[in-house]
This record gives sequence, structure tokens and C-alpha cells, in this order.
Amino acid sequence: MIEHMTIHSRGFNKVYFDKLKDDTALQIFFGGSSSGKSVFLAQRCVIDVMQGNRNYLCVRNVKATIRNSMFNEILKAIVQFKAMADFKINRSDLVITCQNGYQILFAGLDDVEKIKSISPALEMITDIWVEEATEIMPNDLKQLQRRLRGHTKYSKRVTMSFNPILQSHWIFKKYFGKWEEGMKQYIGDGLSILKTTYKDNKFLDVGDIKLLEDETDKYYRDVYTLGNWGVLGSVIFKNWEVRDLHNEFVNINGKQTCIIDTFDNYKNGLDFGFSIDPNAMIRTHFDKKHKTIYVVDELYEREMTNDVLAEVLKPIIGKEYIYCDNSDPRSITDLRQSGIQSLATKKGKDSINFGIDWLLRQHIIIDIRCQNFKNEIQQYKWKEDKDGNALRVPVDKNNHLLDAIRYAYESESMYGDVKAVRAFY
Ligand SMILES: Nc1ncnc2c1ncn2[C@@H]1O[C@H](COP(=O)(O)OP(=O)(O)OP(=O)(O)O)[C@@H](O)[C@H]1O
Ligand SMILES: [Mg+2]
Repeated sequence: MIEHMTIHSRGFNKVYFDKLKDDTALQIFFGGSSSGKSVFLAQRCVIDVMQGNRNYLCVRNVKATIRNSMFNEILKAIVQFKAMADFKINRSDLVITCQNGYQILFAGLDDVEKIKSISPALEMITDIWVEEATEIMPNDLKQLQRRLRGHTKYSKRVTMSFNPILQSHWIFKKYFGKWEEGMKQYIGDGLSILKTTYKDNKFLDVGDIKLLEDETDKYYRDVYTLGNWGVLGSVIFKNWEVRDLHNEFVNINGKQTCIIDTFDNYKNGLDFGFSIDPNAMIRTHFDKKHKTIYVVDELYEREMTNDVLAEVLKPIIGKEYIYCDNSDPRSITDLRQSGIQSLATKKGKDSINFGIDWLLRQHIIIDIRCQNFKNEIQQYKWKEDKDGNALRVPVDKNNHLLDAIRYAYESESMYGDVKAVRAFY
């Protein structure tokens, strides 16, 4: 135990306090957005590791999403406890080592080899925290649980945190059999479930609370304000599937070639953001003949200035064109001056619905690494009237990469199909 840890109960939300010492083998923290789940689990992780005998493996479905979520959250907890001097932080390998030798390790499920071989400097992993666990598949969880097998006198735990995005999700089917509406907590059979909402988080300011309370869309209100399992009514896109494109091969002149290496018709799009909205870039290949779009790469980053954005984009898109949101001409110019072939979209009346209609007529194949795009497309929905009928207006939420893909195909959708263009003008 490190003696000088600065931990005051006032730094915690009360609802989670009992969970600091909960040894249940499988723990679920779910509920509305901004309910304090991630901050608490990061705090618990740091405390556990500082107390010794516990090593953490922090997991998300895709490695690229870790640094800006759980890794940062854990750094913030270390700062909150004024424990910076007790930790060595290796930012490039994503390894945090406490001076007592115990560690916090991070891995994406897309890094299969790392997951298999990862082992802490001392003893073994006792805790696995899966953040945004609705992103993972049941078999992934099984593999992770298997990871904890082995002898140690300390309890071993898997903790999952997430928003309850869809009642049809396997997590709901598998673990919520005894869960009833109105419950806040369930404990039994090696499973503990805690539901929280923004009301459990004393650290929110009035602006944050107002945004959640003002939500008018029923689905978004259920899931993100009230923390209830969502039932998605008028979902827009069903014409997509997720595949592991890096491990898909085609026969070219007798040679097995990764399908991505055969792509030659790239269409890129970019939606600008900074603090609240992210910069969202999508890179796709268009197989026009088969009306198929392959989503190959994405970027989804907040607080990124245009010069940094240009540097990040260069190795990904090189000299390819990228269609950008025309409402930010200054950023488009910045990128062009940094060597990116950025072009402004034209937009125009009804361009959103027009773009959506065109995308609905294609088949969309998403590489498994493009987690943010998958998250967006699966929840993109039409607004509904009070009887639940779909209106022809998409809910303007969680649609940054979806905007980017519309931009990428603006000219294709407007001018590629002459009949459609006539209908448009
Ligand atoms: N213990 C805490 N101390 C200080 N601030 C906190 C604490 N817990 C939560 N907050 C504040 O509340 C915000 C929301 O908390 P957090 O990100 O943990 O919510 P969440 O339940 O993980 O939300 P989401 O479902 O959207 O991921 C944090 O960004 C932080 O500003
Ligand atoms: Mg969170």
C-alpha cells in the first residue's frame, strides 16, 4: 500500500462507493451517458493497482479508440489522487507501471497476438475492464475470461461498462434475465449489475444536465438520458455488414492478395470538429460496378488542430482527394496549404436526404477496425412523430462519420447518376 495516497470520498460519486471493494467475478456498470461510470472505473483501477497485488488489463474492441478514452481517464485519476510520482507512464506502448511493480496494461481486441501474450511484470492479471463492452462479441468475452485462469489468492474480476444501446444485444439476453424495470442494482450468481444515470453524477454542470434533459428523441432519451435498454425504431441503414478486410484475400493472377491491396478507387470525406464534435475522416473504396462501398479507414479525434490533422492524414490518403464540409472554408485552405488535396462539398437543398437515399442503394462493407463508423451507422435513425412513425428527417446526432461519407460520395451521388440529378434539381 502506498502511504501518501490522497483519496477523499468527496472525489467520488456516492453510488459507486460500495463498488470499490466488490469482488464479484463479473461486474456490469451500465446506464445513461455522463453518469460517471468511466471516471469511477478508472479511479478504482488506479486505487487497486496502488494497493498492490492487482494488475489490470484494459480492453476495447479496437485499439485505436483506447488512448482517447480509458488510457486518458486513468491518467486523470492518477492526477486526481496526486499520485503522478508513483507511476511511470509509457504512452507509446500504453503501459502504466506503479512504483510497487503492479501494472495497468491496455489492448484492443483487434490486436489478437498482444491479447494472447500480454503479461504483467509481477504475478498475473487480476482485472479486466472492458470499456464500451457492447462493441464486443460473446466469444471475445469468453476468451478474456479464459485469460484470467490460473492460481492467485486474489479475486479475479471482469468488469464491463457501456450504454444500453439495444435490447436485442447479446449482453442483454445473456445477463439481464433477472433484471426488471425500475431496478438500480442486481447482485447474484457471480454477477453484479449497477445502473446509473446523470442524476448519480454530482460533478455535472447545469449545461450538461440540460442537454440530457432536453433530449426529445425517444430512443436517445431512453438510452442516454434514462439509461434504459434501447429499442431502435426507425433505423436508417440496414444495408451494411462488418468484415475483417485485412484478412480477406482474393486470387489475382494465381496470387493470394489482400482485398485492400486491390482497391484503387478511393473516396474520402471529412467532417470538421474540435472540442465537442470530433474531426471525422472516412476512407473508402467504391466498387461502382457492384454498387459496393468498402469502409477501409477512419479517423475520429477531438482537439486536433488543422496542422496536426494534415500530418495525420498524409500517410493515410497521400495525394488522394478528400471532400470536406464546406461550412469551414478556412480549415479546407489550411489543409491544402499543408499538402492535403482537400475539396469543399457543395451541399445544397435536401442534400442530406439525397445523400442518404443514394447510400441506401449501395451495399456498405465496414472493416472491423472502423469502430466509430459502425457505432454511428447502427444507431442512425429517422425522427419520429408522437405515434412513432418515421419522419423523413434524420436525428442530427452521432453522425460525424456519416456526414463524412456523404461528402465523400457527393459528386458520385449527384452527378454519377444522371436521372437522380434531374430529380434533384
Ligand atoms: N469522480 C469524479 N470527479 C470529477 N468529475 C467527475 C467524476 N465523475 C464524473 N465526473 C465528470 O462527469 C463526466 C462524465 O462522467 P463519465 O465520463 O465517467 O460518464 P460515463 O457514465 O462514462 O458516460 P458515457 O456513458 O457517456 O461514457 C466526466 O467527464 C467528468 O467531467
Ligand atoms: Mg464512459
